[in-house]
Amino acid sequence: MSFANTKCVVEEGDTVIIYVNPQAMYALQVKPLIATKKGDMVENIFQTAYGALKVQELVGKKFGHKVQFSRGWGYLLHPTPELWTLNLKHRTQILYTPDISLIVMQLDLKAGSVIVESGTGSGSLSHAILRAIAPTGHLHTFDFHQQRVEIVTQEFSDHGWEPFVTAKQRDACKDGFDLENVADAVFLDLPNPWLAIPHSVKALKKSGGRICTFSPCIEQTQKTCEGLLAEGFKYIETMECLQREYQVKNITLPEIDDYNFSFCNTPETNCEGNQKKDDRKFRAVLPALQMAGHTGYLTFATWPRQSEKCQT
Ligand SMILES: C[S@@+](CC[C@H](N)C(=O)[O-])C[C@H]1O[C@@H](n2cnc3c(N)ncnc32)[C@H](O)[C@@H]1O
Repeated sequence: MSFANTKCVVEEGDTVIIYVNPQAMYALQVKPLIATKKGDMVENIFQTAYGALKVQELVGKKFGHKVQFSRGWGYLLHPTPELWTLNLKHRTQILYTPDISLIVMQLDLKAGSVIVESGTGSGSLSHAILRAIAPTGHLHTFDFHQQRVEIVTQEFSDHGWEPFVTAKQRDACKDGFDLENVADAVFLDLPNPWLAIPHSVKALKKSGGRICTFSPCIEQTQKTCEGLLAEGFKYIETMECLQREYQVKNITLPEIDDYNFSFCNTPETNCEGNQKKDDRKFRAVLPALQMAGHTGYLTFATWPRQSEKCQT
């Protein structure tokens, strides 16, 4: 299975997305057998809100087709980084697609880019980075939590990213990155990113590059900006990405050009005693009443090209 190259038909071992509705989606690996808590291998039957699904029956089915559960149905979708972000198992807080898209664009990620990331966390951002830089780039991702590194390494392998990624257990603030002059961009999602900025400078190419840090609090962001300035980064900018959804709705509004709101106005007649017009029905586009709020501040900066110092 490869997230990078889409294919038509499901094979054993693939990761697939079962889509029921926007609130009910599942990522699962197509394996005929699954281990119980006691370690016995039993038939892999996946429970959805609409009944059971025999996972082995997905083999040979085409992506995009309907799949039957015992009490309903869903669609079998090819995985993408966006769907993975919505369905992965959270080991940590994760980044979501609105922030991720701004990061990918501002860091100018493209095929062939070399990226350093820390911490890896649950690998949500890593999957989007990998799609942007494959098939010729490389992601070096670091987390100081051994088990998180092991799980994400297995997921990278299951999803076909192995050639383009190296995941390592390492304290990015204390020990930095074991890389010098290789990275086009560095991304830091750490509690204290300012401690990793001097190490990031070492990892960035001397020909220049970009850095981004993600922090939920403004005090962290202030320290990061001071750190970036002290190291010689340029064009430092902090942004917040808020996604506002619009909904298409059928609404009914009273005809208002014909009556005013004084005491002579009744539900049936206007001030001139004329019959009011019927309410009018509209199809309107309205902002959603609720939206996802603050996630974090994204600070971007440019590492300028390091020109050779002339000997005098
Ligand atoms: C919020 S999570 C990152 C989530 C990730 N961006 C994602 O989208 O899935 C932060 C991660 O940083 C790791 N971490 C914290 N301090 C670290 C350090 N000094 N060096 C390396 N990793 C660190 C934590 O173990 C955690 O997994």
